[in-house]
Amino acid sequence: MLGVFVRSTLRSGLVKPGLRVRPVTRIPQRSLVHQEGLPQLPVPPLKQTCERYLAALEPIVSKEELEHTRELVEDFLKGGVGERLQSGLERRARKTDNWLSEWWMQTAYLDCRMPVAVYTSPGVVLPRMHFQDRQGQMRFAAKLIAGVLDFKRMIDTDSLPVEYLSGKPLCMDQYYRILSSCRVPGPKRDTVVNHTVGKPPLTHITVVHNFQFFVLDVSNSDGTLLTVDQLYMQLEKIWNSSLQTNKEPVGILTSQHRNTWGKAYNTLIKGGRGCGPPSHRPSLTQLYSSSDKTNKESVRSIQKSIFTVCLDAPMPRVSNELYLSRVAAQVLHGGGARWNSGNRWFDKTLQFIVGEDGTCGLLYEHAPAEGPPIVFLIDYVVKFIRQRAEEVRSPMVPLAAPQKLRFNVTPQVKRDIEKAKQNMNIMVHDLDVKVLTFSHFGREVPKQHKMSPDGFVQTALQLAYFRMYRSCCSTYESASLRMFKYGRTDAIRSTTVDSLNFVQGMEDPSKQNPERLALLQRTIQTHKEMTYNAIHGQAIDRHFLGLKMLSIEDLTSMPEVFMDTSFAVAQHYNLFTSQVGSRTDCVMCVGPMVPDGYGVCYNPMDEHVNIAVTAFNSCEDTNAAKFAQAVEDALLDMRALLEDTIPAEQ
Ligand code: COA
Repeated sequence: MLGVFVRSTLRSGLVKPGLRVRPVTRIPQRSLVHQEGLPQLPVPPLKQTCERYLAALEPIVSKEELEHTRELVEDFLKGGVGERLQSGLERRARKTDNWLSEWWMQTAYLDCRMPVAVYTSPGVVLPRMHFQDRQGQMRFAAKLIAGVLDFKRMIDTDSLPVEYLSGKPLCMDQYYRILSSCRVPGPKRDTVVNHTVGKPPLTHITVVHNFQFFVLDVSNSDGTLLTVDQLYMQLEKIWNSSLQTNKEPVGILTSQHRNTWGKAYNTLIKGGRGCGPPSHRPSLTQLYSSSDKTNKESVRSIQKSIFTVCLDAPMPRVSNELYLSRVAAQVLHGGGARWNSGNRWFDKTLQFIVGEDGTCGLLYEHAPAEGPPIVFLIDYVVKFIRQRAEEVRSPMVPLAAPQKLRFNVTPQVKRDIEKAKQNMNIMVHDLDVKVLTFSHFGREVPKQHKMSPDGFVQTALQLAYFRMYRSCCSTYESASLRMFKYGRTDAIRSTTVDSLNFVQGMEDPSKQNPERLALLQRTIQTHKEMTYNAIHGQAIDRHFLGLKMLSIEDLTSMPEVFMDTSFAVAQHYNLFTSQVGSRTDCVMCVGPMVPDGYGVCYNPMDEHVNIAVTAFNSCEDTNAAKFAQAVEDALLDMRALLEDTIPAEQ
């Protein structure tokens, strides 16, 4: 989802040619056959992309800027540079499984130096659970763990059903990357390690409570998985061995800026000197003592675990109206150093959050996968939990207590933790979140009016933005490229000349409703065509990224078309949006992509729409609650327009 590409490419260095980032994962035979049958991501025709780019600029840049860019595009097309880069890209496409995936993984994620917390890791807000004490929390967590392990069994036994989009089978590769995987910080670039190939297979998860991490082995000595009751007993033991609340929150280190965390990581696992004054540096004895080995093994245990469960402390109570927004914030950052931010390992690909107060959600590190496989997993686990509501108790075999992971906190590590706490608290104060349950109607209404629900919501976002700012902005909507082998995402640029005409029409008192309706229908039709183009590999953004990356690799000067004001405006996504649909009544949430923008995720259900809006408090011009209200008003006005002008088809 995240096109952190803008942030990362602006701030990062070059990508080394030929660098292989795709970690080895064990994909079973049947899935391999499916994978091999998938088409390769095409390289779109250069002229088509350039024309689409100019069309996308029209509503967001001035006439003069557009004219200037038109000239640059012409030079690019006719001067030979574009053609040369295009041929290079086509060559790369012939030689690789997917010309884009490695570049995308690097530029969008691994090179990005911003903290993963808030900036790149999406959260999922699940409905409030009906427990309010620790027994309820443990029971729920035990079922959840059993559910995820049951899902893992589908992956391991190669029985995961293939997904489809618009009737076409999708690449399932991401499912093999979300378990037993973890991001590892590097001084300039991170990596993602995947431990699914290990022998013997990994059988532990990590559980964190009161900032203390535990290894929980989820299989019996005969290889069978622990039952829900056994898991519950093990969680109880974890709880009872982590009652102290004065422990150093080592996990909060993972929330830092990646360079900072990269240095702190070395200090933590190697007992390195870090950058403190000499008096604060560890002595040689400390350096070569077992301390680094202990820390290293603890870190490795977390990294290698199948996933992490965060048993969170209760958060301050809020009104029902604010509850889901509070959960979204807790999921994204933990609420701050004095709450649950230290109860995380932000690098871990999958972290399930279960609070004592009924809070339930998930946080995932974005590099290995997009939202849809994650919510597919959630749908499966939620169904599993419901079916296990009345499970018969199984006989108890005594099990060894889960192992607590020890950390030696040297003075330098402690200083790193203090710094991380401060920075986390700044991030917490800066993030503005509003989760809206739009309860007036869901995707059935646009469908009855023969309109795409996704296009309908996207158009409402356009109207809301225009009403608040009297202008429109560059908008990013994630589109799946999983029809192609190793496909990730491209962008649908939802701001179009048609959407501008519609929002202006809605605000123009001289316009009549039939005319506005025609503008709405046209906008949604255009959006549908752009969606079709994007999911079929014919959008603009990734093609341009490929051309840019080639020119960096070739060490030729960057074509001017990628350096002008229009390009910067086009890449500055004030609206960074994504639909992640699910059967579960949940919503994904992400931070904004730019300092003065909004992150908007939505899940259109049949009768209502869940919408999560984020912004930064440090920007005076944005306000998540106001924007959410504007979206609600826009959706209602658009329905009124439909009902006023055409009867719905039942
Ligand atoms: N009339 C009646 N029904 C219509 C319609 C019309 N004109 N247009 C669409 N519909 C129906 C569809 O048939 C579909 O029906 P279904 O629910 O029975 O399957 C439903 O409305 C939804 O379609 P639509 O709203 O158009 O969107 P979509 O489900 O095709 O999703 C994207 C569009 C862009 C979100 C999707 O293609 C995609 O790429 N998803 C992945 C996003 C992603 O990866 N995000 C990453 C997050 S990290």
